[in-house]
Amino acid sequence: MAKLKIGVIGAGSISEAHFQSYANNKKVEIYAICDLNEERAKEKAEKYGASKVYVDYNELMNDPEIDAVSICTWNTSHAEIAIAALDHGKNVLVEKPLTTSVEKALQVEEAVKRSGKTLQVGFVRRYASNTQIIKQFIDQKELGEIYYAKATCIRRLGNPGGWFSDKERSGGGPLIDLGVHVIDVLWYLMGRPKVKSISGNTYSQLGNRKNIKNLSFYQAADYDPDKNTVEDLANAMIRFEGGASLLVDVSFTLHAKKDEIAVKLYGTKGGAELEPELSIITEKHDTILNITPQVDSLTFDFVQGFQAEIDHFIDTCLGEKETRSPVQDGVEMTKILCGIYESAEKGKEIYFD
Ligand SMILES: NC(=O)c1ccc[n+]([C@@H]2O[C@H](COP(=O)([O-])OP(=O)(O)OC[C@H]3O[C@@H](n4cnc5c(N)ncnc54)[C@H](O)[C@@H]3O)[C@@H](O)[C@H]2O)c1
Repeated sequence: MAKLKIGVIGAGSISEAHFQSYANNKKVEIYAICDLNEERAKEKAEKYGASKVYVDYNELMNDPEIDAVSICTWNTSHAEIAIAALDHGKNVLVEKPLTTSVEKALQVEEAVKRSGKTLQVGFVRRYASNTQIIKQFIDQKELGEIYYAKATCIRRLGNPGGWFSDKERSGGGPLIDLGVHVIDVLWYLMGRPKVKSISGNTYSQLGNRKNIKNLSFYQAADYDPDKNTVEDLANAMIRFEGGASLLVDVSFTLHAKKDEIAVKLYGTKGGAELEPELSIITEKHDTILNITPQVDSLTFDFVQGFQAEIDHFIDTCLGEKETRSPVQDGVEMTKILCGIYESAEKGKEIYFD
C-alpha cells in the first residue's frame, strides 16, 4: 500500500513530537517541511528524511503529492493555514487551540464541510490512555451523572516569552495555552454539554518576572523578556445546560508555593482524578474506596499521548476511524476560551443562547 505523504508546517518545539510519532507510524512518509525559518526546516528535513523544504506554506499547499498536514505554527496563523490546506484537498491535524476567534473557528468549520476532508484538533489529552480509562468508567455510568469538574494548571514561574507572550500571535496567555488542554479534556469527559454561561477573570499583575534569579523555567526558542502583552492568571466558572459546572484556574506566573496540575470530575456515584494522579473514587457497602488503577503511568504520558493522537489521525485520513477531536469541538472550545476573555473584559457573567 502506498504511504500517506505528510507535510509539517512549523518546525519548532512541538513539531518534534509530531515528527517522532509520524516516524513511528509505518503508514506514512514524512515528505515536506515548512518553516519561516528555513534553517530550522532544513534541520528537521535532514533528521527525518523529508524530500521537500518550504518557507511559504502556500507553496507547500500547491504540492499535489501531499495528502495530510500537521500545523504547528503560532496560534493566530492556525485558521488561515488550515483553510488553505483543506481547500487544496489535504487532511489537517492542527495544534491546539484551533484558532483565536469564534469567527475564524466557524470559517474553518465551513472549509471542512466544503472540502469533505478531515480536520483533527490537537487535543492530545483526549488520546492519552488514562483519559480513555476514565471515559470507559463514565460510559458505563459508574460515576453516575457528572455535575462538577475542576481544573488547575498553575505555573509559579513559567511565561515562555517569544510569541507565547505576544497577544498578536498567541491570542492570549495561560488560558489559551494551558487552559485549553485542561478545560477541553474535562468538557470531553463530561459528555460535551452545551455552555450556558461563563464568568471569568484575567489578571496581569506580575508580568513575566524576568527579575527572578536562581530558578530556571521553560523559555521559547526566541525568548524575549521585553515583550509581554498576555495575562498572567485566568480563572473562570463555566455553567452548562443541565446544571453541571466547571471551575478552572491557570497561570504563567503566580506567588504560589509550587507548580500544580489538577484535573478532577465529580459524579453522583463516583469521582475521578486524571491529574495529579489517575484515581477513581467510589462507595461500596457503605465504605468509601479510593481506587488506584495499575497502569504504566499515573500521570499524562506525553509520548504515548502524541503517538496515539497521530496514529488516530492517520487512521482517520485512511477512512478507518472517525476523529476523536473534530472541528465542531474546536469551535465550541473557542467559544469557551473567548467567552472567558470576554467576561473578564466586561467584568460580568456572559450568557449563550
Ligand atoms: N499539544 C501540546 O501539548 C502543545 C505543546 C506546545 C505547543 N503546542 C502548540 O503548537 C504550536 C507551536 O508551538 P511551539 O511551542 O512549537 O512554538 P515554536 O515557537 O517553538 O515553533 C513555532 C514555529 O512555527 C514557525 N512558524 C510560525 N508561523 C509560520 C508560518 N506562517 N509558516 C511557517 N512557519 C511558521 C516558527 O518559525 C517556529 O519555528 C502552538 O499553537 C502551540 O499552542 C501544543
